[in-house]
This record gives sequence, structure tokens and C-alpha cells, in this order.
Amino acid sequence: MNEKHSSTSKNPHNQNTTTHTKKSTDDSITITDNRTGNSIDIPITKGGVDAAEWRKLLPGIWFHDPGFATTSAACSSITELDGEAGILRYRGYPIEQLAVHSTFTEVAYLLIYGELPTQKQLDIWNNQITYHTFLHETFRSNLYRAFHYDAHPMRLLTSGVAGLSSFYPEVSDIKDPDNRIRQIVRLIAKMPTLAAAAYRFSKGLPFVFPDNNDDYPTRFLRMIFDIGHTYTPHPAVVRAMRILLILHADHEQNCSTTAARVVGSSLADPYITVTAACAALYGPRHGGANEKVIRMLRRIGSFSEVDNFIESVKRREFRLMGFGHRVYKNYDPRATILKEAAHDVFAVTGKNPLLDIALKLEEVALADDYFISRRLYPNVDFYSGLIYQSLGFPASMFTVLFALGRTPGWLAHWNEQLVLNARIARPRQIYDGPQQRDYIPIDKRSTETDNGIE
Ligand code: CMC
Repeated sequence: MNEKHSSTSKNPHNQNTTTHTKKSTDDSITITDNRTGNSIDIPITKGGVDAAEWRKLLPGIWFHDPGFATTSAACSSITELDGEAGILRYRGYPIEQLAVHSTFTEVAYLLIYGELPTQKQLDIWNNQITYHTFLHETFRSNLYRAFHYDAHPMRLLTSGVAGLSSFYPEVSDIKDPDNRIRQIVRLIAKMPTLAAAAYRFSKGLPFVFPDNNDDYPTRFLRMIFDIGHTYTPHPAVVRAMRILLILHADHEQNCSTTAARVVGSSLADPYITVTAACAALYGPRHGGANEKVIRMLRRIGSFSEVDNFIESVKRREFRLMGFGHRVYKNYDPRATILKEAAHDVFAVTGKNPLLDIALKLEEVALADDYFISRRLYPNVDFYSGLIYQSLGFPASMFTVLFALGRTPGWLAHWNEQLVLNARIARPRQIYDGPQQRDYIPIDKRSTETDNGIE
């Protein structure tokens, strides 16, 4: 093999190391332990190399990858994402086609079972989901009363999902595939009811029971907005809700799905697994970003302030919320679809006054070297918040809506790793603390550490 060139890169401890680019005739890598001269060839399979091979050569040397930027944690057949090419496919079907032609429950079926359903399968699936939309009445009527009146709906939802498991003693029997599907159906069915209950509680409004004559998005919208049987959502609003749910349904190994997979790998039940996923989603770097985008646009306030705001982002005073992505280094395909969908919604609801600021922000950012050089583009959260707001949702509900959409994805991953009998998630660490030292009696301690306790 010919050595073509060598370059320097940083190792986890910020020392320069040398990497060599070699011309190779086969799909493999060679790792050499320079301490011993021992080498190992590892085949590159489907774009990955097996870390078990690394362990054989280098026991006790860990692949240091905080944030898992270079680690594949699973072999999954659910969602294909190519961030360079801007591709997102569920079970092979492009997201653009599903957004136009499919329904949310059909997409949920696809994610869980791996294939699009026949009409008969879809009817049964829809029927099962519809049949499970109600919550146990004691639970529903008491659940959120223990919370402060202005608790964030995402906190309510997260607690609600955890509490739900207590009604189904069989939930722990996760080895039984039929039981798994029963719980998956229950969760997909009950999440909108839990979410709507959180919203109505936060508004001091009476609860609206699910109407089983409605389709999934209509049922949810009615539970949210109906007052005295007067609310019928406009078809364009139902369509936007359907698209939003579909676009959020899965996104391979994102932070909340990883949380679900990690918790699920301990053989926790699916309710606790989804609770962990909700908790991870809530953070502003992940699903909480949609809420922050609206708050950011409000703070910018006017078209003329956009340039100043961009400058403050470049000075690192703020992050441009709804921009940037670990995986997409190109336009997020979901953002493209949502940008178009936003105009359809605004044709019915009236233009969201924040849209102009958002468009200007995008235009200025995409022409600025700070964003160009870091390959920062709008992500799904940049436009979803504008649509949610125009549909009538308060900003505090945006992440809840993300959670509704993502529930089938979380459950598909939970189910997949149980089918594959995945090992418990248990990463290693590089220990960076003190070496062994002897206990010092309190009257002999000389150094005071500032631990913040006064
Ligand atoms: N505004 C300004 N600078 C940014 C932004 C941003 N939104 N995102 C990344 N950067 C900069 C960052 O400062 C860093 O610059 P430098 O190398 O000079 O220090 C560089 O770009 C790389 O950023 P990073 O934080 O190392 O990238 P990451 O892959 O760890 O983080 C991210 C990805 C999504 C957390 C981040 O881009 C971000 O915080 N974006 C804003 C929050 C957001 O919109 N989140 C929603 C993500 S999409 C929905 C979902 O799937 O959750």
C-alpha cells in the first residue's frame, strides 16, 4: 500500500497525533499499536467498523467520543439519514413522499412493522389506536392536580407517561412480542390525550374527551381547542398537523431516541422508556428548540434588528435557535417541507407576523461566513414553531407536539433493540481524576475547596 500523505489531528487530550492516509484496495482499516507493533485489519461493513475487533487489539484503550459524534450505537433498519445529501427516509420511503401521501398512523405502522400496511391491516391498526385513546378516569381527573397551575406542559406530559405504566401490570413482560405491540398501541393512542390534558390543565379549561369518530390529528386538535362542541378544524390545519406529526416521527439516533434506547436496554418497560425520551427531548438543544425559536424571534422584534442579532450570535452571546444540526451539514429536508407547509397554513390563518423576521434571519445567516464555514442551516425547529403558533398553540406546547410525533419512532427503536436482543448500554470513560490517596481526618485538611456552600 502506498502512503499518500499524512496530516495532524487532535486526540482527546489535545496532543497532536499523526494520521496517515493510505491507498487501500479492500474495504478495511488497519490499526497498529505502536507500543507493541501489533496490527489488526478490520473490515468496513456498511460504513462501520466493529469495535469488538478494536478491543481485541487494544484492551483497556477506549475510543474517546464525547457526544457520540463518531460512534454508531446501533444497527437499525428504521430510518436512513444522510446529512450530507439531505436525505431522510423511513424504512426506505422518502420523507417527502410520506408527507404528501401518508397518514400519521400509517407512518407509525411503517416504523413499527417495517412495511406499509394493506388496507385491512391499516383499518385494524387504526381501530386499535382509536380504541385505546381514553385514560383511566381516576388517573385523568387527578393526574395534573398535584402540579403547580403554571407547570410547563412538557413537565406534565413527562410525568404523565411515567404514571401511566402503573395501570398496566403486564407492562414489564417485554419479552412477549404481542404484549409489546399492545403497549405500543396504547402509548401511541394515549399520548395525544395526555398532551391535551396537560394543555387544558395549564389553561384552566375543562378536559375534552377523545372523539373516536375523528382521525388522529383531528381528534387531538379537538381535544386541545374545542369549547362546547363548537370547534371543527379547517382541513388545511388538519393537513399541517398531519405533516408535522409525520416529519417528527423518527430521526434515527437523536438524543431522545438514544435516551430511549439506553433506558430500554436495561429492559425497562416502554412507559419508562418513553418518559426518558420525553425528558431528553425537552432540552433546548433538542426538541425544546422550537419553543426557543419563537421566543428568539419575539425578542428580535423587528426586521431591522436582524443584523444586530446575527452579530450577537457571532460574538457567541446567543445561539441562533433552529439552526445547526449534528448530522445535517446541508438544508434539513424537514425544514424544506415545513417552509412550504407554512405558507399553506398562513393562507388560512393569516401570515404569522414573525415569518418575515425568520425569513430575513435565514437569508442573512446563509450569506454569512460564520454560518457558511460551520455549515449551519435551518433545522426542523426553525419553521415548525411558526406553524404551531399560527395553528393556535402556545409556545410551551411546541415540544409536546414534537413528542407526540416522535412517540412511534421511540417505540420502534425500543422494539427493534429487544427483537435484536441488544446488550445493555454501558459506555466506558477516560478517568481524569486524582490517583489513589489516603483519607485525611477533618482537622488535618489544609486546602479549602470552593464548593458553593456558604
Ligand atoms: N448558532 C450559532 N452557532 C452555532 C449554532 C447555532 N445554532 N450551532 C452550532 N454553532 C457553532 C458552534 O458554536 C460551533 O462553533 P465553533 O466550532 O467555532 O465553537 C460549531 O457551530 C459546531 O457546533 P456544535 O455545538 O459543536 O455542534 P453540535 O453538533 O454539538 O450541536 C446542535 C448541534 C443542534 C445542538 C447545535 O447546532 C445547536 O445548539 N443548535 C441550536 C439548537 C437547535 O436548533 N436545536 C434543534 C436541533 S434539530 C431538532 C432535533 O433533532 O432536536
